[in-house]
Amino acid sequence: MHRDLEKVLFQEAEIFARLDVLAKEITHDYQGLDLTVIAILNGSLIFMADLLRRIPLPLQLDCLRVRSYYGGTVTSGRVEFDLSALPDLKERHVLLLDDILDSGHTLAAIITALQEKQTPLSVRSCVLLRKRRQRERAVNVDYVGFDIEDEFVVGYGLDYEEGYRNLPLIGVLRSQ
Ligand code: IMP
Ligand code: MG
Repeated sequence: MHRDLEKVLFQEAEIFARLDVLAKEITHDYQGLDLTVIAILNGSLIFMADLLRRIPLPLQLDCLRVRSYYGGTVTSGRVEFDLSALPDLKERHVLLLDDILDSGHTLAAIITALQEKQTPLSVRSCVLLRKRRQRERAVNVDYVGFDIEDEFVVGYGLDYEEGYRNLPLIGVLRSQ
């Protein structure tokens, strides 16, 4: 185990087994629909790459770079992104992919802005992890990999100050 981790929550094999199930559900739900997946960067990169290769649908992929401002491991609630880089989504069903649902600020802000500015046929969201906690903004996510306790986790795309994204597992960071 990496020395900065207090414990490992999910090894790669367990993540992959869960992705197999999630991918089947998504493939079933979007059969015959014009699907655009929007991956929220940087956190969902690795999740996106492994999930989408399990979905045999003719989908389109775009990315949205989002900055949510953190003071250490706690969100400030400030979220910044630029929807103008995305293509026209009016005739598309959108599935947002994010690494983790924590306070809810990030997904809530993106879903609201997309619905107002782009009016896609539908907007759903999929997160690899969802923390068990009271959310500052209510968000209804449609697909969830794992529910976890309210602890700061890293690995498999998730960072602490931009480190640890390339760990092939998800673990709880040791208190500094
Ligand atoms: P929210 O806006 O508070 O829901 O947080 C969403 C974003 O915060 C995620 O996309 C992550 O980038 C980051 N985040 C929240 N919790 C964690 C964590 O435990 N580890 C690493 N990043 C996190
Ligand atoms: Mg982050």
